[in-house]
Amino acid sequence: MGIQKDTIPASAILKTIMEMQMDSVLIIDTCGNIIMANDIFKDWTGKHIEELPTPLKGILTISINLYPSQQGSKIFTMDGYKYVIHTKYIIAEQVHFGFVVYLLNVTSQDILESKLSQYIERENMLADELNALQKSEAKIKNMVSKSKAMEKILEIVYKIAGFDTNVLILGETGVGKSLVAKTIHQLSRRAKYPLIEISCGSISENLLESELFGYLPGAFTGANKKGKRGLIECAEGSTLFLDEVAELPMHLQVKLLDVIQNRRIKKIGANEFIPVNIRLITATNKDLGKMVDDGAFREDLFYRINVMPIHIPPLRERKEDIPALMDKFIEDLGLKCSHTKILSPDVKKRLLTYDWPGNIRELENVLERAFITSSGTIINKDSLPDYINDNQNIRPKSYEDNIIIKAPMPLKLAREILEKKLFRLTFQQVKSTVEVGQMLGVDQSTASRKIRKYLNTSL
Ligand SMILES: Nc1ncnc2c1ncn2[C@@H]1O[C@H](COP(=O)(O)OP(=O)(O)OP(=O)(O)O)[C@@H](O)[C@H]1O
Ligand SMILES: [Mg+2]
Repeated sequence: MGIQKDTIPASAILKTIMEMQMDSVLIIDTCGNIIMANDIFKDWTGKHIEELPTPLKGILTISINLYPSQQGSKIFTMDGYKYVIHTKYIIAEQVHFGFVVYLLNVTSQDILESKLSQYIERENMLADELNALQKSEAKIKNMVSKSKAMEKILEIVYKIAGFDTNVLILGETGVGKSLVAKTIHQLSRRAKYPLIEISCGSISENLLESELFGYLPGAFTGANKKGKRGLIECAEGSTLFLDEVAELPMHLQVKLLDVIQNRRIKKIGANEFIPVNIRLITATNKDLGKMVDDGAFREDLFYRINVMPIHIPPLRERKEDIPALMDKFIEDLGLKCSHTKILSPDVKKRLLTYDWPGNIRELENVLERAFITSSGTIINKDSLPDYINDNQNIRPKSYEDNIIIKAPMPLKLAREILEKKLFRLTFQQVKSTVEVGQMLGVDQSTASRKIRKYLNTSL
């Protein structure tokens, strides 16, 4: 036979329920005597709330006296812990017997909640960082860096991207100066704004000033009526990439120095300066140090822009990059033209031995032409230009490397021999006096006169 509901003492049920609670529970009569308390409350053993520690006594007194309704909650702090106190009136047949008081320590919940929000915040941050990293990795993947030299450059790029240091990128034409500048910007905090770039050698002096600094309405005749924002102003918060910085005229060198030193610009026609926040990257294929010596470039500006120089070596000095570059360009072309082609081993060999005076841009162009002109799936040597097949590195920009001096000799004789060799070699290559003139930078009548002279003489 089961036990009848009424036969279990109510006090035993009450005690059991109270002990099952995870927080302090106590029962107080209307005079403030503690009638019952569970074990969790055992630290405060007073018989009357008056005997409890002061803050608890205070809060309990307030709780049981001030609630106009029959129940209420209050938050309070004691000994560095945070509690929520719930009070409920015990009423039976409209008689008020006392209170049930719940004392919940919410300190740990609070800590947990704040930890949780910290974790969520960190997780979001990590997700953002991972995203940015994946994006930058994709950008870096675009940049072939198999050689030690390029690996080192990439390392520097990674290191300096996050700082606002002025960077000067040096190197021959087509070595990847613009690509490095773009990569630094893309890896920097400034990447959320577009990179603003201008080539100082591509426009006239006057136009360059108004492009860079902008002007006020009516600043000069022919100016736009509304005025114009300069590129420096447009680069606010972002990066300004000044390509061919050696071509910057002297008076603009002074103005640029002021921008760097004082972080401000004055528009053409304006009296006031406006503050600017830009990161400056410059590039040149000229020997700026020599230009400083020759008085063609301001020394103070040179030191300001040259805080972090990055010298990209020519492709002929890092031939380990050529195979990976060939693969990349052929793959890119295949994707662009939806057609896969491969280079014959012979072509690969020829591309590896050629000196690439036009550097990566030249390699890219040669491969594009070979890809388009080759008819089959395999690109063979017929699709390469003659000067590569003949391995005659006579392209511009490799002038110095093409002249090898093994011993001193009289200058007059050296000039004469050089001229002879140059006209004969060029004519053999292009078979036209017009083209010889163009390639050697002389007019056609001079070219044909010299060719007539030298082709009949032995070298
Ligand atoms: N490391 C590299 N990996 C892959 N492609 C590259 C690399 N370096 C350069 N390129 C590619 O070669 C071409 C020429 O590079 P870029 O324009 O950056 O050269 P540059 O030094 O700025 O030339 P210029 O002196 O004429 O301004 C671009 O198409 C560029 O994407
Ligand atoms: Mg460039």
